[in-house]
Amino acid sequence: MRLNGKPSLLCVVGTRPEAIKMAPLILKLRENPRFRVRVLASGQHTDMLSQALEHFGIRADVDLSIMRDRQTLDHVTSAVLEGVGAFLDANPQDMLLVHGDTTTTLSAALAGFYRKIPVAHVEAGLRSRDMTRPFPEEANRVLVDRIATLYFAPTPQAADNLSAEGVDGSRVFVTGNTVIDALFRTLERRGETSVLRDVPAEAPLVLMTAHRRESWGEPLTRVCEAVRALLEKYPALWILIPLHKNPVVRNAITEALRGSPRVVFTEPLDYPDFVAVMNRSLFIMSDSGGVQEEATALRKPVLILRELSERPEALTAGTGVLVGTDRTRIEEEASRLLTDGPWLNSFSNRGMPFGDGNASARIVSAIENYFDT
Ligand code: UD1
Ligand code: UDP
Repeated sequence: MRLNGKPSLLCVVGTRPEAIKMAPLILKLRENPRFRVRVLASGQHTDMLSQALEHFGIRADVDLSIMRDRQTLDHVTSAVLEGVGAFLDANPQDMLLVHGDTTTTLSAALAGFYRKIPVAHVEAGLRSRDMTRPFPEEANRVLVDRIATLYFAPTPQAADNLSAEGVDGSRVFVTGNTVIDALFRTLERRGETSVLRDVPAEAPLVLMTAHRRESWGEPLTRVCEAVRALLEKYPALWILIPLHKNPVVRNAITEALRGSPRVVFTEPLDYPDFVAVMNRSLFIMSDSGGVQEEATALRKPVLILRELSERPEALTAGTGVLVGTDRTRIEEEASRLLTDGPWLNSFSNRGMPFGDGNASARIVSAIENYFDT
């Protein structure tokens, strides 16, 4: 509904990475007097979502609060579809902005599509080309890109993927990834972090995160075995693991590493703390999408705990090394980074393919043009 002629834009977020990556765009849109901007939180995540939004000074205008403990994909899919649909019926919108590849993203996009509301997909066009990895995210992003109206592709390669699927090029904009906007903004305001208080200042530190569904069970156990072996082999090494709130992942990791020395478990870190730990670490081991992009921008090596990646730019730039969840391969690549100084240092001048910190401004311009024409 155009109030005073202003297009109404609804930005939907559901999980931590959506919050971090949509935040700079929400702030940029809100600076623009042409738009009426509202934020809907699906509540697929609770504390992890509000923690991420808070850092950027954003409060959701509406929160569907759909999260359940150990929730199923069916629950998230249907609850978000119904919740966003009911909101749109009561509050008609001129455009819906969704981000990435979560179940919130898919269901919210579908609710918009059912009401013929244009859907703008931020971080469009990523493809692993394997529907089982990451699961269910590859399907989510492919499905959203079938029904979207505007596509904000973070890289030329993502735009090429859309073109290869027949998406009209006039609706695709290569913008850079908004995560780099979030990262640069946070680096500017960097303060001290108390998270590392137990880690000796001179100790080699590695940051690890893991949460992907396709790693639950055996793969995650193998990753933890590799971590345990590395701690035994390198007596000065410390590993910091901010645990995801998901009990399936949290219990598996803490159980597998119980009694290991020099492991620091933390709750999910506030974004500035997490950025500070990334900066302090020698390298990162992670199956996260966003962390791969941030590590690349920080020129930190990242051992990607996945079998394949929808972010080949990190591999081409050389900051990412795809190690999967094979214990030996993880140990070998981590050992090389821990023992070969020139190899470690060579990461400091690799490419930065994910953006320049101005993605949000480009997206806002494209939305302005859409409403002008
Ligand atoms: C979800 C996304 C994944 C994304 C990840 C980011 C889907 C299918 N998965 O996975 O793409 O990479 O978020 O972290 O969309 N929980 C809490 N508090 C929170 C958040 C989660 O307690 O703030 C617990 C709950 O028990 C919840 C469980 O974690 O049921 C799983 O959450 P869910 O969003 O379904 O899956 P994630 O693994 O977080
Ligand atoms: N992150 C954070 N605190 C943490 C762990 C991660 O703020 O303790 C941030 C990280 O910097 C990145 C995002 O969360 O921007 C990644 O989220 P996650 O790994 O949960 O999801 P993915 O990117 O894999 O979808």
